[in-house]
This record gives sequence, structure tokens and C-alpha cells, in this order.
Amino acid sequence: MSFPDALKADAALVQVRLDAALAGHDPVPVVEAMRYALRGGKRIRAFLVLESARLHGIAPERAVSVAAAVEALHAYSLVHDDLPCMDDDDLRRGQPSVHVKWDEATAVLAGDALQTLAFELLCDPELGSAERGLALVRGLSRASGAQGMVLGQALDIAAETAPEPLTLFEITRLQAGKTGALICFSAEAGAVLAGADPAPLRAYAEALGLAFQIADDVLDVEGCEAATGKRVGKDAGAGKATFVSLMGLDGAKRRAEALIREAEAALSPYGARAAALIGAARFVISRQS
Ligand code: IPE
Ligand code: IPE
Ligand code: MG
Ligand code: MG
Ligand code: MG
Repeated sequence: MSFPDALKADAALVQVRLDAALAGHDPVPVVEAMRYALRGGKRIRAFLVLESARLHGIAPERAVSVAAAVEALHAYSLVHDDLPCMDDDDLRRGQPSVHVKWDEATAVLAGDALQTLAFELLCDPELGSAERGLALVRGLSRASGAQGMVLGQALDIAAETAPEPLTLFEITRLQAGKTGALICFSAEAGAVLAGADPAPLRAYAEALGLAFQIADDVLDVEGCEAATGKRVGKDAGAGKATFVSLMGLDGAKRRAEALIREAEAALSPYGARAAALIGAARFVISRQS
């Protein structure tokens, strides 16, 4: 199966799990906003979870709640990222952002509830032992909180008004938080579920996460709204600290390519079984959306 087809197949599995998680909720605006925020997206984090599970002999059905949890957490981060007090973006996944379609209060609350939904999904008994379930809860908490995504987002916003441009070290730390941490959690999840060593997947995901954010920053300069489904050309004006702002477009692209080579090399312990994860790595820097 080609990588785009494999991604689509896993996305469909995850959508079923997400729909089931919200079935039976009261049809109130905050729940409609959650469903709306959960639609679309490339589902690359879900793919990493399911592929990392397959790599360890775990069937997608047993890991799909983890994949859905990561996508719920990610959807929350996007709803809040688009708020006027954050990036102030009115377009997401080709549709009006949640705070535009509803209002800011609904967007804040839908984001909050998507975050708690993620942890509810991690309480699925299908995941096996309570001990492994707890390891996943700890992993997702750390990846998304004040040592992970929230830290990165805070550094990203602070950089907009910093008196001096950020250094390479500081930008790397910022991006490892805002984007890398959730990608690392996703890629390691199969190893955690299987009680296996997650170190090679961690090395893969650290490089992949950074390359993923560099590609996002390149698309902000070179991409078009019709393909990305979000506004472009905004980062420079907002004073965002990115690899593009530090090393220019060509430098940033070369860095992303080198990171993808690093990510592929980190998978060598798995041999040919890692082909789909290598496909994901190549997709990350060639994508148009
Ligand atoms: C966008 O993530 C935000 C970043 C961390 C760069 P994605 O590019 O994965 O967004 P969707 O889920 O496909 O919409
Ligand atoms: C957002 O990074 C990362 C998170 C939502 C955690 P960006 O602000 O660059 O993402 P886009 O470009 O709005 O998708
Ligand atoms: Mg942002
Ligand atoms: Mg943004
Ligand atoms: Mg961006």
C-alpha cells in the first residue's frame, strides 16, 4: 500500500473511534464544536501510533484509542492555537476556526473538553494492563503539558516580543516542545504498549518532529491556502521564531532533509519492518498541506 493510502486507512479507523467517543453527548454547541474540530487533518500522529503498535505486533484495534487520544489532544491544541490571544487565525483545515464559527468562549471550552476526552480515551481497557495504561497517561500528560506542548507554545508566544532573535538552541527547544513532544509520544506509544524499548523510536521521532515543524514553517512562506487549509505568510509578520527566520528558506530546507536522514537511520534496528515509518518521514518534508 502507498503511504497516502495507508494514512487514509488509519485515519478512517481513528475517525470511527472519535465519533464513538462523542456519541450520546448532548447536542449542545460545545459538543458540536468538538466534533467540528476533530474533523479533517492529516492524522499523521495517529498513523505514528498505529504503525509503532504494528511494529511491536499489536493490532490497530488495540491501539486505536491511543491514536484517537493523540488526535483529540492535537485538535485541542489547534483550537487554542488559533484563538485571537494566540495566533489569531480564522482558517483551519479549510474551514473557519472554531472561535470564528462559534465564539471564543466555546472555542476555549471545546479545547478544554477535547483535552479531557484524550485522557478518557486512554482509559480504554483494550490497552491491556493498568500499568501500561498508566505509562501512556503519564507520557501524554508530560508531552502535552508544561514540559511539552504548552511549554513550546508559551516560548513561541514569548518569542514574538523578545528583544533579541532566539538562538538555534532556543528555537530547537521551542519546537521540540510545541510540536516534537506529541510526535514523540505518538511514535513511542506502540513500544510502551508492548513493554518494549522505545529508544530507537524516540530518536526517530525527535528528528521527525523537528523536521515536521520546519516543513510547517516553510509552508507558511511557500505554501498556498487552498492546499494548507490555513492562512499563510503570517509567521514573519507576527515575529515568530522559526528555523526559516533564523537560517532562511534554503537553510531550513537543508536542515529538514538532514533531520529526515537522521530519522531514517534511527530506524535501522527494525530493518524492513520500519518501511511505513520511513514513508511517513519522507512525506513530512514533501507535503503541501
Ligand atoms: C499543525 O499540525 C500544527 C503543527 C504542529 C505544525 P498538522 O500539520 O499535523 O495539522 P493537521 O492535523 O494535519 O490539520
Ligand atoms: C502550532 O504551531 C503548534 C501547536 C498547535 C501546538 P503553529 O502555530 O505553527 O501551527 P499552525 O501553522 O497554526 O498550524
Ligand atoms: Mg502557533
Ligand atoms: Mg498557529
Ligand atoms: Mg505554522
